[in-house]
Amino acid sequence: MDGSLQRHVGGVRLVSLVTVETIQPEKVADLSYCRALEEGNILFFPRTPFELPEADRAFLLRQRQVGAGYHKNIAYRPRQDRVSGFVKQDPADAERLRQVLHDYSARVVAFATRLFPAYARAWRLDFASFSPQEEAGRALGLRARNDLLHVDAFPTRPSGGDRILRIFTNINPAAERVWLTGDTFERLAERFAVASGLLTRARRGGIGWSLRRLARGAGLPVGVRSPYDAFMMSFHHFMKENEAYQQAAAKERHTFPPGSTWIVFTDMVSHAVLSGQYALEQTFIIARESLALPAKAPVAILERIAGAPMA
Ligand SMILES: [Fe+2]
Repeated sequence: MDGSLQRHVGGVRLVSLVTVETIQPEKVADLSYCRALEEGNILFFPRTPFELPEADRAFLLRQRQVGAGYHKNIAYRPRQDRVSGFVKQDPADAERLRQVLHDYSARVVAFATRLFPAYARAWRLDFASFSPQEEAGRALGLRARNDLLHVDAFPTRPSGGDRILRIFTNINPAAERVWLTGDTFERLAERFAVASGLLTRARRGGIGWSLRRLARGAGLPVGVRSPYDAFMMSFHHFMKENEAYQQAAAKERHTFPPGSTWIVFTDMVSHAVLSGQYALEQTFIIARESLALPAKAPVAILERIAGAPMA
């Protein structure tokens, strides 16, 4: 019997939802919430723990997106205060959308700063997004599909070994958002990192990486993609393209009701979105140095397997 099946049959949960009704200050102080996330659990808030004005929510529910095959979502870049991927019919609507996403991002960041002060000291604020499309039956290319299990990697924003933490909110007035989760990165890496050949390939690319790093140190404008980033990007594709894995993987279904919020390290917890419409999301890049359990970071797991630095 396959090991993952045994775990599943044995009733061992792969990923747990840790429900938070009210935030406990002592759990903030002793890093319990950080540890729960870094162990590969999902922090689940049945009621969204930050303000989301009804008028803003009603406005978002009216939005449509342009070129839905090209832009997966409406994206908001907090650092530039700029929106992309949205149908510009009326300039007043475009300005209102920027304002609504700006306010959402600011509130979720303030909330996350209270919940994770240790992360907030060194995190990089990444994009926020709004997904107005129904996820069930979306016509997306294989690598862009949301309904296949994967761990996240961003093609345009290499993390250099830092982590991807995402906060999601279901603003649909009636429908739940349905996810599947599978194994965490640790087990996936044990099974596939070497066997797939991807770890070796990423490290071979890394010879150029140390030279490029030196060049950048000398002030030359070269892109630096670490072996870690090369591995994570290729592993994202490998998972989605591996039909046998998708079929056989032990999976659990999670339903996130309207008005709920959940937080997860998506570079660690394999996940897929089966259905749902109208979700808000803010991404944070969490510095490796600020983790409570640094040995559980994907970069540390890969470095153990490789016996060499990856970022
Ligand atoms: Fe994802």
